[in-house]
Amino acid sequence: MRKWLLTLGAIVVIGILILVTFYDKNETSEQKEKELEIPKEYNQSLRPQFHYTPEENWMNDPNGMVYFEGKYHLFYQHNPSGNEFGNMGWGHAVSEDLYHWEEKPMALEADDQGMIFSGGAVYDEHNTSGLFGEGKSGLVAFYTIAGEEQTQGLAYSEDGGETWKKYRGNPILPNPGIKDFRDPKVIWHEESEKWIMLLAAGNKVIFYGSDNLIDWEQLSEFGVDQGAQGGVWETPELFQLPLDGDPSNQKWVLQVDMNPGSIAGGSGGQYFIGDFDGKAFTREGAKDDINWVDYGTDFYAAQAFSNHEGNPIWLAWMSNWMYASDLPTDPWKGAMSLPREVSLKEVNGETRLIQEPAGEIESNRSQKLVDLSDKEVEGRIPLDDFKADMYEVVAEFKLATSGEFGFRVRKGDEEETIVGYDSKNNLAFIDRQNSGDTSFHEQFPGVYRAPLEPTEDGKVKLHLFVDRSSVELFANDGKRVMTNRIFPSEDSDGFEIYAMNGKVTLESLEVYELDSSWKTSEKE
Ligand code: FRU
Repeated sequence: MRKWLLTLGAIVVIGILILVTFYDKNETSEQKEKELEIPKEYNQSLRPQFHYTPEENWMNDPNGMVYFEGKYHLFYQHNPSGNEFGNMGWGHAVSEDLYHWEEKPMALEADDQGMIFSGGAVYDEHNTSGLFGEGKSGLVAFYTIAGEEQTQGLAYSEDGGETWKKYRGNPILPNPGIKDFRDPKVIWHEESEKWIMLLAAGNKVIFYGSDNLIDWEQLSEFGVDQGAQGGVWETPELFQLPLDGDPSNQKWVLQVDMNPGSIAGGSGGQYFIGDFDGKAFTREGAKDDINWVDYGTDFYAAQAFSNHEGNPIWLAWMSNWMYASDLPTDPWKGAMSLPREVSLKEVNGETRLIQEPAGEIESNRSQKLVDLSDKEVEGRIPLDDFKADMYEVVAEFKLATSGEFGFRVRKGDEEETIVGYDSKNNLAFIDRQNSGDTSFHEQFPGVYRAPLEPTEDGKVKLHLFVDRSSVELFANDGKRVMTNRIFPSEDSDGFEIYAMNGKVTLESLEVYELDSSWKTSEKE
C-alpha cells in the first residue's frame, strides 16, 4: 500500500513539473511574439525586411559611408519631401550590426547653391583640415553641389556624424567646364601620405590630391577609351586589396558606375584592377576588357565604408535609373542591397572581385524551413508546406546530366522568379519575367545571365537572399553576383526545386527564414 502511494505521489509531482514547464514555455513565446512586431509603416507586402529603406520618400545612391566608433553610418541620396527624385540631400541611417538600421534626421539638405548630390566621407583623425580645433578630430563629407553647374562642396561633423556644418568656403572645387563633374570619393593614401579625391567626369575619372582636405590639386585622369563606355560614368570608388589574401601581393580596384549601357540594361557598375601610385591609376589587361560588378539589373553606385579595418564592405542602391521612378512602392522608393564584403581572388586565370554577404545574418535566422541532402532532382519538386517571403537559401548542386536546374521562389499560381543554372552554357541566371508586377516599365521583365564555371569538383553553389521585393544571388562563394528587384503578390510565397533536361544531385539545401530587421519591442 505504501509503495503504491509513493508511486502515485511521484507521478503527481512529475505531472505538475511537466505542466509548469510547458506553461512557462508557452507564456514566454507568447510574450516574445507580443514584444517583437514589425511596425505597420514597415510591414507593407513589398517593403524589404532585411534591406535598408527609408520610412518615406525617394532614395538613391549610398553616400558618405563611414565606420566610426562602433557604428556604420549610411548616408544616401534622399528627397525629404517626396517619393520622386528631387530636392536631393543626404538622408542618414546607422547600424551596429549591418542588419538593423535606425533612420536618423536628414544630414545635409539642398540650399540656394543647389541640391546635394553623391559623395563620400572620411575620418579626419589628425585634424589635417583644421576644421576641428586644437587636438580635436571629426568627420568630413564631400558632395556635389548640383547648381547651375556641378561643383564640389565639403561639410564636417563634430559629433560623430549626427549633425553637419557646410564649409563656408564652398565650393572647394570649382567646375572646370565639364558638364558631368561629380560624386567626390576621398581616401587616405598611406604611401604618399596624401588625401586622394576621385571624381566622375563624363567618360573618365579625375584624381586630385590634398594635404588638408580643402585645397585640391589635379593629379591624373583615367578612363577615356577604357572598359564599358555606353553611358555617363558616375560614383567612382577606389581601394586596395590583397590578391588571394596574400599581403605581399596588393592590387588596387577602381570601381565606376555607368548609366546607361550596363550588362543587364540601364545602369550598372564595372571595375578595373591595377595599380595606384598616389598619382595615377594604371589598369591590368586590355583597355576594352570589361569587368561587371553585378550581373543583375539592380546594384548601382556601390560605396565602401571608410575608416574600416580589413576587407572593404560595400553596399549599393538596389535599383536602376531605367525604371527607378516607376517602381510600384509607396510611400517610399529605393532600397539598399545587402552589405557585401569584397575581396580579390584568382579565378580561372583571371583576377576577380569576390563579393560575399556581410553583417549579422546568421544570428538573424529565425527558423530552418528546409533541410535536405543528397537528393536527386528530376522535374519539379514543389515544397508543399513552404510559405515565406524573407529567407536565405544555401544550396550545393553536383552536376549530373541536367541541362538546367535551380529554384522557383516567390511562387504563386501565376507568379514565379526563377533562379538557376544552365549547365550547358555555364550560366547562372535570374528570370523575373513572371515575377509579379512587371507592368510599370516595358524593360522591367527579363532574364539576366552571368557566366559561372562550376567549382573544380563539379559543383554549383547558389547562396540566395529572397526578400519581399528582391532576390540577391551569390554564386560559387561570391564569384558571381546578381541582384534583381521583383514585385510579387503577397501570397506568392511558395518554393520549388527543379531540374529539366536531365537530373542533378542536390548535395545540400538549407533554407532559413530571416527575421525582419524592423521588428521592435513594444516596450521600446
Ligand atoms: C548616380 C547619380 C550620381 C549623382 C546622384 C544624384 O546614381 O546620378 O552621379 O550624384 O545620382 O542623385
